[in-house]
Amino acid sequence: MSKITGDAINIGLLKRVFQYVKPYRGIFGWAVILTVLLALIAPVRPFLIQYTLDGYVMKGNYNGLLSMTVLMLALLILQVIIQFSHTLLTNTLGQSAVRDLRIHVFNHISSLRLKYFDNTPIGQLITRTVSDLETIAEIFSEGLISIIGDMLMVVVIIGVMVYKDWALTLVVLLPMPLLMIATSVFQRAIKSAFQQIRTEVANLNTYLQEHITGVSIIQYFAREEQEYNKFVKINSRYRDANIRSNWYYSIFFPVVEIISAMSMGLLVWYGAKSILAKPLDVTPGTIAEFLLYIGMLFRPIRELADKFNTLQMGMVGAERVFKVLDTNEITENRGTVVPKRISGNISFDQVWFAYNDDNYVLRDISFEVEAGKTIALVGATGAGKSSTINILNRFYEIQKGEIRIDGVRVQDYELNYLRGNIATVLQDVFLFSDTIFNNITLGNPDITLDEVVEAAKKVGAHDFIERLPGGYLYNVMERGATLSAGQGQLISFIRALVYNPAILVLDEATSSVDTETELLIQRAIENLMKGRTSIVIAHRLSTIQKADQIIVLDKGQIKEKGTHQELLRLNGYYKKLYDLQFNSGGISVR
Ligand SMILES: Nc1ncnc2c1ncn2[C@@H]1O[C@H](COP(=O)(O)OP(=O)(O)OP(=O)(O)O)[C@@H](O)[C@H]1O
Ligand SMILES: [Mg+2]
Repeated sequence: MSKITGDAINIGLLKRVFQYVKPYRGIFGWAVILTVLLALIAPVRPFLIQYTLDGYVMKGNYNGLLSMTVLMLALLILQVIIQFSHTLLTNTLGQSAVRDLRIHVFNHISSLRLKYFDNTPIGQLITRTVSDLETIAEIFSEGLISIIGDMLMVVVIIGVMVYKDWALTLVVLLPMPLLMIATSVFQRAIKSAFQQIRTEVANLNTYLQEHITGVSIIQYFAREEQEYNKFVKINSRYRDANIRSNWYYSIFFPVVEIISAMSMGLLVWYGAKSILAKPLDVTPGTIAEFLLYIGMLFRPIRELADKFNTLQMGMVGAERVFKVLDTNEITENRGTVVPKRISGNISFDQVWFAYNDDNYVLRDISFEVEAGKTIALVGATGAGKSSTINILNRFYEIQKGEIRIDGVRVQDYELNYLRGNIATVLQDVFLFSDTIFNNITLGNPDITLDEVVEAAKKVGAHDFIERLPGGYLYNVMERGATLSAGQGQLISFIRALVYNPAILVLDEATSSVDTETELLIQRAIENLMKGRTSIVIAHRLSTIQKADQIIVLDKGQIKEKGTHQELLRLNGYYKKLYDLQFNSGGISVR
């Protein structure tokens, strides 16, 4: 058994898991006490049976038999109660510890910088916070405590057996090495089967998540048949892995039965022989007692293999979860500047930025925006417009140069203060499955319904929201599926407006909306920009024309700067872009 133990337990890791048990010391203490009690009580019943058989039944003492029966019944009830409390406590312990750990993991993931998510599949993080964590809970409920209890019980029972009759014990335990070998073989086989099952579950999850999310694409392109065939394959592999593990069980259990039958056979053979030879040495009561002991010995040993697997799975899960917790990709928050108010002067000073290594997507960017003015970023796709706004609120860190707001470097501001003062409306609107109201306040309790309504009126969205069933309490379905693209955008505008930020960053959506909504959105954007410094990635002619300054980006560099009229007169790159986008007879008419 020690070989298995060695594989399963990594003490350092286990200690770390037990950090999460600390707040539940009381429960843990009781669980351990009950475990020990259960192990100690186990041999009592067989002992009582032997005592009753030899002392009363064989001697025809009916009253004695009756009182012993009552005693045994009481013992049984006690055992049931202890077993019940034990199960309840260990499960509560596991689930409580894991709940805390899950909160810890979620908070940690939420604080990681965007770069981490660029390189980590979402499905993987979900697996970490749900199923991997569940396996850790089982360390407590079915793993560690249970293993210790079972081992203790085996030791106690063998101890009692040796004490009662060492020769008989030796005979009974003869097939034990066979059981050890069988268990060890089974444990190794089932472990690999389990690992395969987990891999296939992960594959299945990832596949389902992506394909249900992208179901409309699959239907548009009539790819159902091909996707169906792929799914069938993954599904079959999952089935095969499960069948393999069941197969191992279906061999292992009968093998254990055979070995335990061998033990009983030996017991009866040897016992009967002794009774016939020397009637006083081994009694029929002892044989009955030992028969029960054999049952009690084989059950935990048979289950140990399973429980070690549970423990091992828990350890693997813990290792993965802690790896996420140990990820240190957090935006440093060393800044301390927290002024009463930000007025909104922005300056980019020779800024260089790369997502990865020296692969610069922004090169030597310099520009200034005065408080209250609007700057428009234009440029071809991939020119670096979104990247420029992503570095202002420190979603990503720049490599060279300085970005300042009111003369203070952005990294010198307290991070939450900085982000709280910059409202960002992204190109793709993201809505949570929640009410419109909560989607606007994002759970901030300081924002009242009145403020939300006021902002909605400014943006011109109040009317359509009122018309929805439930109004502001209308439940938006996943990712805003039940709203139109234009409605989603309007909601994201309200979101920005209620936070009343000094600086507005807007990545104009390119999705087309009907003329009426278009007008609504144009007016909303104007309202949004009023009285604040705005950086807008502009796709609308109307936004561009109203900007105080336009910055034309090309392959990460500033190509031209000026107002719409100035740039048109220049007759350069901007003019070409403008003609392509707005004057080409219908490619993108806004
Ligand atoms: N998360 C990222 N990791 C690595 N590279 C990225 C990442 N996001 C963008 N890039 C790269 O940076 C460059 C600039 O991208 P950016 O998103 O800033 O373009 P854009 O001007 O906003 O384009 P669009 O008009 O299509 O939105 C592109 O070459 C792009 O491939
Ligand atoms: Mg972009």
